[in-house]
Amino acid sequence: MPKAAHDHRLWRSSGEFRGGAPFRTLFKRTFSRIFPALRPKHPFDLVHRVDTSGLMYAESLPSGHRHDQQSEGYYATAPSLFRGVIDAWRATLSGAGSNLNGYTIFDIGCGKGRVLLLASEYPFRNIVGVELHPGLAQTARSNLKAWMRTPRACGNVTIVAGDVFEVPIPDGPVVIYLFNSFGRELLQMLLDQLLAVSATRCDPIDLLYVHPEFGDLVRQTPRIELLADEEFLFSAEDAEADVFGVNFDRCGIYRLPGLLTVERTA
Ligand SMILES: C[S@@+](CC[C@H](N)C(=O)[O-])C[C@H]1O[C@@H](n2cnc3c(N)ncnc32)[C@H](O)[C@@H]1O
Repeated sequence: MPKAAHDHRLWRSSGEFRGGAPFRTLFKRTFSRIFPALRPKHPFDLVHRVDTSGLMYAESLPSGHRHDQQSEGYYATAPSLFRGVIDAWRATLSGAGSNLNGYTIFDIGCGKGRVLLLASEYPFRNIVGVELHPGLAQTARSNLKAWMRTPRACGNVTIVAGDVFEVPIPDGPVVIYLFNSFGRELLQMLLDQLLAVSATRCDPIDLLYVHPEFGDLVRQTPRIELLADEEFLFSAEDAEADVFGVNFDRCGIYRLPGLLTVERTA
């Protein structure tokens, strides 16, 4: 894809979709693009001495994999957005008779790992991140090492470098976190895969689709249940740090029930 078209795709999908673009925002975007090195770090990085900030275009992240062409590049989830989404998803669990402790959270396109770090503040069963770009995966590992010097609610964190379609969906109840990782074609492939996998399991596959640009594809997926579709307001700190100058994002929360039933012995 030509550079200009690719830039447009990322800006379109990450910026305009998330809200209007007043002059201040346009200035911030232009400044950030011209002087990327001067872009301030997110306070999360300064406080925790990690490196999760930055906006990186897909063309600056070649991995050599054919799916590079579908990548939307790197930009980390705002911490307040992640926590709001997890709270909203968690509220759906009691009705389903399940518990966060039983779930593995699977971050598809974990980048530098901010979501993995944030997820470790909750008592998940496991945390798994997969990242196409080996350099970003390496940064995620370094961040994790620094982060885990402090005890966390979940210490079972695995980072895999590679394409998501080459990594199995974790066993047991899974909640997938997906934030603007790739385009429509790969999202459809992922949904087809989730549908097939859920037919071989009894446990649910939940999906937290943040910035749901292709939400129509998810809603068309057979058997998937829409549990919530909400806008989440960023904290003042996250809004101030946002490269796109926006202060909210949306998330669709879905559940794909497992089709198998467990034979219970008396
Ligand atoms: C917008 S970033 C989100 C990072 C992180 N999930 C978060 O929310 O903070 C999307 C990430 O997905 C990665 N990615 C894109 N295509 C991928 C693929 N096919 N398999 C694995 N990761 C992919 C990109 O390299 C990028 O780091």
